[in-house]
Amino acid sequence: MMDTSSPKPILLVAACALVDADNRVLLSQRPEGKALAGLWEFPGGKVEPGETPEETLVRELREELGIETKVPCLAPLTFASHAYETFHLLMPLYVCRRFEGIPMPREGQVLKWVAPRNMRDYPMPPADEPLIPFLIDLL
Ligand code: C5P
Repeated sequence: MMDTSSPKPILLVAACALVDADNRVLLSQRPEGKALAGLWEFPGGKVEPGETPEETLVRELREELGIETKVPCLAPLTFASHAYETFHLLMPLYVCRRFEGIPMPREGQVLKWVAPRNMRDYPMPPADEPLIPFLIDLL
């Protein structure tokens, strides 16, 4: 039978693996009151109209973590695609090693630098989890 239900809206979110000198990646725990509270994710956020995903990340890293980076410091690594119940998430993942400042939790989140091989100890949203092997291979 033909599926006549309307397609799910697409949500475009850009995510970033910030990498430190020890090849650890910054994870951010979603605060209480937000969807998927308590899960650990890569910093980032929704791509606003008129933005490229790289511009989104420069803005979000400033807003969420108080650090400064530049578009050329963001290297695309891979892409997540996950069908949530009410929307379909498309999420490019970038890697960034060059940024200024020390990441601070500016939105009530908890931050943790984690080696990729230990990331499975930190429960992630279903869209983020399949990205872990790419970071293990890279780092
Ligand atoms: O962060 P924000 O709540 O704006 O993200 C919108 C939705 O995108 C979340 O509710 C979550 O379902 C999804 N998301 C995700 N992984 C991320 C960021 C967002 O699955 N790293």
